[in-house]
Amino acid sequence: MNGSQSTALLRLSDKDYEFIRKLIYNETRINLGEGKRELVSARVGKRLRATGCPSYEDYCEALRKNPSSNEFYNLIDAISTNHTFFFREINHFNFLEQVVLPQFSSGKLGNTSKLNIWSCACSTGEEPYSVAISLAEYFQKFPQHDWQIDCSDISTRVLKFASDAVYDIDKLKQVKPELARKYFQKGERQMEGYCRVRPELAKKIAFRRINLFEASFPWKSKFQLIICRNVMIYFDRKTQEELVTRLSKHLVPGGYLFIGHAESLAGITHPYNTIKPAIYQLPE
Ligand SMILES: C[S@@+](CC[C@H](N)C(=O)[O-])C[C@H]1O[C@@H](n2cnc3c(N)ncnc32)[C@H](O)[C@@H]1O
Repeated sequence: MNGSQSTALLRLSDKDYEFIRKLIYNETRINLGEGKRELVSARVGKRLRATGCPSYEDYCEALRKNPSSNEFYNLIDAISTNHTFFFREINHFNFLEQVVLPQFSSGKLGNTSKLNIWSCACSTGEEPYSVAISLAEYFQKFPQHDWQIDCSDISTRVLKFASDAVYDIDKLKQVKPELARKYFQKGERQMEGYCRVRPELAKKIAFRRINLFEASFPWKSKFQLIICRNVMIYFDRKTQEELVTRLSKHLVPGGYLFIGHAESLAGITHPYNTIKPAIYQLPE
């Protein structure tokens, strides 16, 4: 094959880009505009290499023939952006410790001794483990209370990473040293350079795959707090509206919704009161 042939084969045509864009949108509602074309090309290119598929055209043809194949889920994994870090957007953690947790322990967020939180686009787990550290610290003074964090994401790859709970030691730079020592074990020998979340903390957190647009969510009880950060940014306004309305059905009255600080519910119809930037509360 000469250079120009291989370039032609490895070019994502308009037709194939449109096909991938629609496929991804229909399943995940991630809105890939024209500006994402190069990124999609590069990420699908990785799938071509992983599957040994000779061209974008062949890859798309295989997906057209079998849209519910495993490869479709690998494609979603490849396309979704999973950037996250410990204690990201610290204002949320301050509000959690100063407002949400005291309200819960004084019985103002439902008459229950168990606090339930859902981190609904948890990526590789840094977000829920950071929340877990805040809760573990706070509830030392309130041993009569129990808590759990349910976590979900559409990507099975990030969920596997999150439940393994092993991180590069450099990732702990965002964690206060005394908390890092208390809640992580340092790896030794072949695990040198890595750390693992201590099992006592990890056991309070459950991970499962949930697509935010599946017909119904599996929850039997409601949450006092839903954390849905830095995922809505990939959705169009109509989809954001649909999502935050759906999430509100899974909150107790007075329950909170945290969204990313780069996101906003301004200009969309929703049932929440605005408390602070990126913090919303369902009326009691
Ligand atoms: C940028 S990460 C955000 C991680 C974390 N919430 C934070 O703020 O640091 C966005 C995550 O949303 C997930 N995601 C994208 N579309 C989704 C969908 N339709 N349902 C569930 N998760 C989705 C991606 O897989 C990705 O892990």
